[in-house]
Amino acid sequence: MTNQTSSTISIPVESVLKPIGQATGLPNQAYVDPSFVMKEREMVIGKTWAGVGFVSDLPKLGYVKPLSFLGLPLLITRSKDGQIHVFHNVCSHRGRILVEEEGEAGSLLRCPYHSWSYDLSGNLRSTPHIGGVNSHSVDGFDCADHGLKQVEHAVWMDVIFVNLSGDAQAFEDYIVPLAERWKIFLGDNGLIHLRSSQAQSKLTVEIQSNWKLAVENYCESYHLPFIHPDLNRYSRLEDHYHIMIEDRFGGQGSWAYNLSDDAGVNLPRFPEWPENKLKEAEYISFYPNVLLGLQADHVFVVIIEPKSESRSIEHLRVYYVGDEALGDVYEGCRESVLESWRVVFQEDVGAVEGMQQGRQSPGYGGGVFSPVMDNPTHHFHQWVANKLKVA
Ligand code: FES
Ligand SMILES: [Fe+2]
Repeated sequence: MTNQTSSTISIPVESVLKPIGQATGLPNQAYVDPSFVMKEREMVIGKTWAGVGFVSDLPKLGYVKPLSFLGLPLLITRSKDGQIHVFHNVCSHRGRILVEEEGEAGSLLRCPYHSWSYDLSGNLRSTPHIGGVNSHSVDGFDCADHGLKQVEHAVWMDVIFVNLSGDAQAFEDYIVPLAERWKIFLGDNGLIHLRSSQAQSKLTVEIQSNWKLAVENYCESYHLPFIHPDLNRYSRLEDHYHIMIEDRFGGQGSWAYNLSDDAGVNLPRFPEWPENKLKEAEYISFYPNVLLGLQADHVFVVIIEPKSESRSIEHLRVYYVGDEALGDVYEGCRESVLESWRVVFQEDVGAVEGMQQGRQSPGYGGGVFSPVMDNPTHHFHQWVANKLKVA
């Protein structure tokens, strides 16, 4: 990943913003140019709410998790009071990376360089020898001015979202259109039933592709008969519908999802999910990088971690409904749920990586959209283009 400034990079977006029948997609540069990643960090991903981690990955008080997000060193902590915090992972003194390994940190984070220490809420607690040998304070220096720098964050559906620019719409307002839509399935409080098990809940898929191609692929069902022949046997192309919510969420729904079944055992379902909608399921991209899958008996969430312009990692977590769903009796069901999504996401890898390779070709300039089948994909392109246009 490069640190080149993004100010000189400009992407023509006018043709992306045309009506779908006349539009082209984002040009190749948006997928193959390493310096465009920095522009995206600044103008696209950094300006909104992006997923960086899962609350359930910080299971204990005092747990810390460093990460590099688009080249930025970040640190997620769970402080003693149970709160999740996100900080820039850099010591306020001389700027050394503060935490290098995830794990249980106890109550203080000690910088390896000169041993300044911070609590897990980001407060600077000790500055050994700052005023000379054995003098741990100095006139004019107030620890309260030198805590860790916070990153705006929000938690929803176990996902830790960050807003790097700090000026995005408040998350609780931003999420309303999707939360309202899913009330028909979940009622007012359905998400409180989500549970993740240690086993049968995690999957990681590495793709040699720009992160946007994974989103685009997730937005459409057009490829279903050709890439997912087994899935297409029961949840056919014609059983799907498009979803586009305001300017920010897009994807597809199915009227024919087959609920998991293992030797006659069925997983518990969301209590308010209507009986006449049990076969309905929705697959929605929370732009930029979170993919959501909602079924009556489980939910999955994928955070796409962009590693470079041509490499991404998909982190998938599955959540079941209520404590009972984690019991031994449902182990086979949970395994079949995870396996079915493992197959589907693996089947998509070749398509997504093939698109990445295709974007090296001067014979391709963003392509065209089917005005009937590619609407959510175009919706996502427009979301990106509008952010770049404002830039
Ligand atoms: S850089 Fe961290 S204590 Fe000096
Ligand atoms: Fe797919």
